[in-house]
Amino acid sequence: MKYFFLAYAIIAVLFIGLMPTRGAKSPDTPIRLFPDMDEQDKLKAQKPSAFFADGRGSRLPVPGTQPLGFNETGASEIGGIHELEFGGGTGYYATGGIDDYFATGMPEDLKLSAETVGAFLERGRDAYNINCAICHGASGDGQGITGQFGVPGIANLTQENFGPGAYPDGRMFDVISNGKGNMGAYKHNIPLRDRWAVVAYVRALQTARKAPYGAVKEAFDKGTAGQAQ
Ligand code: HEC
Repeated sequence: MKYFFLAYAIIAVLFIGLMPTRGAKSPDTPIRLFPDMDEQDKLKAQKPSAFFADGRGSRLPVPGTQPLGFNETGASEIGGIHELEFGGGTGYYATGGIDDYFATGMPEDLKLSAETVGAFLERGRDAYNINCAICHGASGDGQGITGQFGVPGIANLTQENFGPGAYPDGRMFDVISNGKGNMGAYKHNIPLRDRWAVVAYVRALQTARKAPYGAVKEAFDKGTAGQAQ
């Protein structure tokens, strides 16, 4: 017991001794038991820096820097369409509808050709996997992770009633743009062109579902099946 009190007293004295005196100023670096990123190698905006020859802390962009959505010529277009065009106009391309009806087929504005369709589908796959797969699942079967955490009634997009014959492309474009029920609107998140790319990718998922066993096996044997993940 004697030693316990002695040890206790020593620890208490050490602890208090190490504690900085409140309000006292010292030119020395304080002892920090928990540094919590107090000290960082960083430059503050608008502050000078001796590190750079011109003495400026804030740096200009490196020559050749490309702003997001702009290509090196500054044209910011893919196939004649501004990459970050979010729509809001009228007509089939911007709404998915013609007069009072949802129409089907990829709009001519996309200028799809045999050369560009592959890249277009890949864009759709990326946007689908980023925005839709959490709910609708990577294969479109509605078994995404959010269902397990209580999001109810997620549509199974591989069902026949969402297939190309029964459910127009324009209607799917409209649901992606404006949402439905528990599904939010994506017109502010996914650019116009990419929303059509998502429609095309969902069509690809639906078609892949019906692929004959032989074709699927062949893709697996060639090691190419995983590319459509
Ligand atoms: C937060 C979860 C969630 C996300 C993310 C989501 N959806 Fe949905 N989606 C739903 C739910 C829930 C429904 C069922 C809505 C209803 O019928 O009330 C639905 C329905 C649909 C439908 C069928 C609508 C109809 O007419 O019945 C389509 C098509 C669809 N989603 C496509 C997409 C696409 C494409 C994306 C990605 C851009 C996406 N969804 C992102 C939850 C989501």
